[in-house]
Amino acid sequence: MIAERNVPLQSCNSFGIVARAQTLVRVRQPADVQAVLDDPELGPAPKFVLGGGSNIVLTGDVRPVVLKVELTGRRLVADTPKAWIVEAGAGENWHDFVAWTLEQGWPGLENLAMIPGMVGASPVQNIGAYGVEVQDRFESLDAVDLTTGQAFTLDAAQCAFGYRDSIFKHASSGPNGLGLAGKALILRVRFALPKPWKAVLGYLDLERKRTETGIEAPSARQIFDWVCAIRRAKLPDPAVIGNAGSFFKNPTVTPEQCADIIARDPKVVHYPMPDGSIKLAAGWLIDACGWKGKSVGQAGVYEKQALVLVNRGGATGGQVMTLARAIQTSVYERFGIRLEPEPVVV
Ligand code: EPU
Repeated sequence: MIAERNVPLQSCNSFGIVARAQTLVRVRQPADVQAVLDDPELGPAPKFVLGGGSNIVLTGDVRPVVLKVELTGRRLVADTPKAWIVEAGAGENWHDFVAWTLEQGWPGLENLAMIPGMVGASPVQNIGAYGVEVQDRFESLDAVDLTTGQAFTLDAAQCAFGYRDSIFKHASSGPNGLGLAGKALILRVRFALPKPWKAVLGYLDLERKRTETGIEAPSARQIFDWVCAIRRAKLPDPAVIGNAGSFFKNPTVTPEQCADIIARDPKVVHYPMPDGSIKLAAGWLIDACGWKGKSVGQAGVYEKQALVLVNRGGATGGQVMTLARAIQTSVYERFGIRLEPEPVVV
């Protein structure tokens, strides 16, 4: 275990914000975590777990000890009549893992292609796209308690998945007293890819591809290619323009609130949810407030998707947050809706 000091983090966060870690330890094997905990100086210090950095906004230098997850490895754990159980180290790149499962002949993750970040972050915020969320394909994960060093395993129910949410996003002072935010480091994740494979279509953008191409029954590989094409057309590549994907969650409202908004803005994009609530497209709300293409300093609203905030070059975390707050205020003033940020603000 080597503790590096004063480490630049610009290349470790997809926003490309300039900041430094006072102390950084690369976790390449589970024993590295134990070594940090046993260290007289690092052991008692607060910790910050850094994965792919694709869902964070750095607002300054990071004082807690940064544990940079670099745990690799991927394998088929079991091939049962019901599913392929596939495991990957938390530090594996998510998209490469998805592509690899398809190459091996284990479909099921194709709708989640091209989501930036690492495997370890996928359950933290229950990543989702085009009708599939990680919770639909999750089997279990192994993690290590950052206070005791004890390893433990969680199944899907124990992860308490919600929309872009899980037990890893909540502090223990939450309503049910449970929460692992900042308290655990995910080592590896197992996914159950159900047999027989069934295409998940139905999402508007995918249906459009089906109509355009005339392919009625696409293969998993075809869906993977469609999802990649859709994302390339709409979302900025973090390697070119810094960003953290969707900056806000899509808010849910009651049917009454939605009817009220429709009365004023008949075009509002809304989707009825199975529980009776209505989900609104945050991107549409922000777009309707005229934010597309606008900037605060070097932080801007992406021209092709108003839900994505971008770094136009040299943006600070403070500028990103100022822009985010200005957007929240105008959406609240116009629609009475409070948008909740998706990334973790550090
Ligand atoms: N819209 C606008 N203007 C905009 C952006 C969107 O009018 O500037 C409208 C679109 O026309 C569409 C609706 O809003 O009718 C929804 O847009 P889109 O299909 O692009 O999806 P989204 O709700 O903005 C969500 C996820 C994405 C995920 C896509 C596809 C959240 C917060 N975002 O975006 O996830 O890729 O659906 O499933 O749930 C992410 O979380 O980082 C992310 C990229």
